[in-house]
This record gives sequence, structure tokens and C-alpha cells, in this order.
Amino acid sequence: MKAAVVTGANRGIGLELTKQLLDSNFKVHATYRSSLGGLEDIQNQSLFTHRLDVRDNDAVTSLANSIEGSIDLLINNAGIADGRWQSISEIDMEYALEVLHVNSIAPVLVTQKLLSKLNNDSTVVMMSSLMGSISDCKSGRSYAYRASKTALNMFSIAMKNELDTVGISLLIMHPGWVETDMGGPNALLSTKESVSGIMQRINEQDMSLSGRYVEFDGTPVEW
Ligand SMILES: NC(=O)c1ccc[n+]([C@@H]2O[C@H](COP(=O)([O-])OP(=O)(O)OC[C@H]3O[C@@H](n4cnc5c(N)ncnc54)[C@H](OP(=O)(O)O)[C@@H]3O)[C@@H](O)[C@H]2O)c1
Repeated sequence: MKAAVVTGANRGIGLELTKQLLDSNFKVHATYRSSLGGLEDIQNQSLFTHRLDVRDNDAVTSLANSIEGSIDLLINNAGIADGRWQSISEIDMEYALEVLHVNSIAPVLVTQKLLSKLNNDSTVVMMSSLMGSISDCKSGRSYAYRASKTALNMFSIAMKNELDTVGISLLIMHPGWVETDMGGPNALLSTKESVSGIMQRINEQDMSLSGRYVEFDGTPVEW
């Protein structure tokens, strides 16, 4: 049985990823920051829940130590939106740093700490966004969120060569505009639709595709 780790799994895309991975016969280590949320309603012996704030170095180390056996799939999904500031003067620098911490640095920390658990057929998924695309940034704004996902993309590509040498494939995802607390009620996709696509991308992923930046339906995203 393959094993997966999903961060930010108590709601939204992470919760649906957990459900679809369980349906696909994965053992899932699902992490939640403070409340189990939707994970509480899942009855499945292959589900293991772990309390984890992805910024917490010690907690990430404990997570790595508590997982027995190797991890075939790591999904760095946890993320936060910014203040949707409309002008430069509105940017709250402290909160902007927080967004960079959670969305850019924490996925690198989690990958660093879990690296020794990954095997030579593992995949690391970075849940990025179209908003991390510099060429797509026509409307501007969403300053910290955009910057955080661009930084995540570069952190990912910068680690690609090293991951290549140990057979770990890297998948940088835009999940689409998805109806979650972050995506809001007007979003175009349900979590089911988005995650069904992400699952297909994961299934087709191999070393020859490592480092690709794609939408849930496989459409490449311009950097
Ligand atoms: N929805 C979209 O349209 C969309 C589009 C592009 C990219 N994305 C990306 O997809 C990912 C999931 O988004 P979503 O729409 O499912 O968002 P969501 O519904 O707001 O859920 C975010 C998840 O991240 C967790 N999280 C936030 N900060 C954390 C921290 N410090 N430690 C651990 N967990 C933390 C949250 O936990 P709590 O419940 O404890 O807050 C929650 O489980 C994010 O990386 C997001 O940027 C989403």
C-alpha cells in the first residue's frame, strides 16, 4: 500500500485530496493545524491524523519521526490568502511575511524534514497557483500571495536537480479556481472536480515530467 502525506487536510482541497487518496487505496497521513474539521467524519483504517502547524520546525521533525516506512507522495497543500490589499499603501508587512512563511518557506521545511522518508519512486506535489505566474500577472495586486507562490515555484525548481538524483519527481500544481474558504463561493470548480484532475496528474507523473507547472487538467502554466 502506498503512503501519502497531505498538509492542511482538515478542509478545502486538502480534505478532498485525503478522501480521494483513501479511495485510491493510499495510506494517508493527513495533517491539521488546530481542528480535525472534516477529517473527523472519515472512518477509514488507512487514515492517520497528525496535528501540525507547517511553520513549526519541531512539529515537522516529530511528524517525520512518527511515520513508519517510506512516503510515496508528499502533498504540500497548506496555504493562506493575503489581505487582498488594493494598493501598495495597504500592504501589511507583518502579514505579508506570514504569507511568505506559510506558502513559500513551510513547504520547503516539510520537504526537507521528510526527505529521508521519500523513496526513489516518490512524488512531491507543491500546491502553487496561477497567481504565482509572473507572465499571468496582468492585474497586479494580491501582492504577498502572488509573491509567495512565485517563490514557492522557484524553491521547487531550485531543488529539482537534487531530487532528480534520488529519483524523486516534483509536480507544481495550479488546482484551478476552487470553491473553498479561500476560493470563495463564485469559484468555477468544486473540490471534487479539481482533485479528480490533480489525482490524474499525480498518477501520470514520472521523472520525465518532473518540474512541470500545470493546471488540474494538465494544461501547462506559463512561468
Ligand atoms: N481555492 C483556490 O481557488 C486555490 C487556487 C489556487 C491555489 N490554491 C492553493 O491550494 C491550497 C489549498 O487551498 P484551499 O482553497 O483548500 O484553502 P483553504 O480552504 O483556505 O484551506 C487551507 C488549509 O491550509 C491550512 N493551513 C493554513 N495555514 C497553516 C499552517 N500554518 N499550518 C498548517 N496548516 C495550515 C488550513 O488549516 P486551518 O483550517 O487550521 O486554517 C487549511 O487546512 C493552498 O496552498 C492554496 O494557496 C487554492
